[in-house]
Amino acid sequence: MHPQPAQDRRTSVTIRPVRPADATLLDRWRLEPSVREHQPLSDASAAQLLADLHRQRDDDLYASEGQKFQWLVLEDLQPAGWITLVIINWGHGLAEIGYALSTEFQRRGLMTDALRALLADLFERTTIRRLEARCAVTNRASQRVLDAVGFKREGLLRGYFVLRGQEVDNYLYAILREDWSRHDS
Ligand SMILES: CC(C)(COP(=O)(O)OP(=O)(O)OC[C@H]1O[C@@H](n2cnc3c(N)ncnc32)[C@H](O)[C@@H]1OP(=O)(O)O)[C@@H](O)C(=O)NCCC(=O)NCCS
Repeated sequence: MHPQPAQDRRTSVTIRPVRPADATLLDRWRLEPSVREHQPLSDASAAQLLADLHRQRDDDLYASEGQKFQWLVLEDLQPAGWITLVIINWGHGLAEIGYALSTEFQRRGLMTDALRALLADLFERTTIRRLEARCAVTNRASQRVLDAVGFKREGLLRGYFVLRGQEVDNYLYAILREDWSRHDS
């Protein structure tokens, strides 16, 4: 399937919490070379992924509880990728996101729409006030998406992770609730 440029799309992008029944899909996507190109994904088994998803309580997010939440990104109700939110510290309203699209759904502008939907929910309905993201300095697409959504690049994290035996520098990005209000208005 040839990706369509974003401007030609006539589709809708939505997100919904990941369910245990989605574990097989996530497991398959995590093995795709393009998904692993710029990030070291742990070799979690399908069983571990499933256990993680069983632990997820969607309501916890709105009660400032819980540590890890995941959403499926859907294009016209078709599963296209996922977003993970890890809480660093509820007391400080500090969290980090990670995200990926399955290969055939990349380069179509989907993740920008998906993150906008998630950020609106997080900043309007939860106590999260600072959201961080890290990405390899070579991952131009991810940087473009973060810029478009309103994240600010705050610094360079030298040798942040090891990927295929090589140390990889990362950029640290973050968006504060007040950045979101300004960007969104
Ligand atoms: C990174 C990722 C989430 C970007 O989402 P996306 O919906 O595919 O991004 P877009 O189609 O909006 O592309 C964003 C920009 O990057 C450009 N771009 C896309 N893929 C690119 C690539 N491989 N190399 C260089 N630029 C690229 C696009 O042309 C677009 O440019 P523009 O802002 O000038 O229009 C997606 O490609 C992905 O899931 N990649 C694999 C997993 C991953 O890297 N996750 C992020 C880890 S930090």
